[in-house]
Amino acid sequence: MLVVDENKFTELSEFIKQLPEDGRIESHLIAVLHKTQALFGYLPEDAMNRVSEQMEIPTAHIWGVATFYHYFNLSRPGKYVISVCLGTACYVKGAAQIMQTLEQNLGIKMGQTTDDGLFSIQQARCLGACGLAPVVMINEKIHGKLNSKKLLAIIKDIQKAEAKK
Ligand code: FES
Repeated sequence: MLVVDENKFTELSEFIKQLPEDGRIESHLIAVLHKTQALFGYLPEDAMNRVSEQMEIPTAHIWGVATFYHYFNLSRPGKYVISVCLGTACYVKGAAQIMQTLEQNLGIKMGQTTDDGLFSIQQARCLGACGLAPVVMINEKIHGKLNSKKLLAIIKDIQKAEAKK
């Protein structure tokens, strides 16, 4: 186990310890899942097993809660996280089509990561750049006034640059 991960596990455990013992297990669990995702970027199985032990909640229940809410990542995010804005302004300008093209091209669905670990796709609700709709954010960078063709060209550039590394 990496030391960095061990530090994160310790932080997670401390977070759980300071939760009030008021019987509100369900809402505490959601807070713990958020904390886990903030620490690891997703919900690793190891972390969920430790949460289960420490909070005395069956893992099946934890995964049930985690899968119910779309904002929890169940797998390690790719090196490039592609957030497709499905907010109203982007949606009316063809965001759904962009999402579909992306899923077909990368061979994954929203919430998944490509086998090479390079890309994951997620949805966003308004990235605050409606004037540039439709908008996609790749890691921290906003790409606006997109269409499927332009987005695929950006993806191809990234793939080429990564292949040279
Ligand atoms: S709706 Fe997409 S940026 Fe606002």
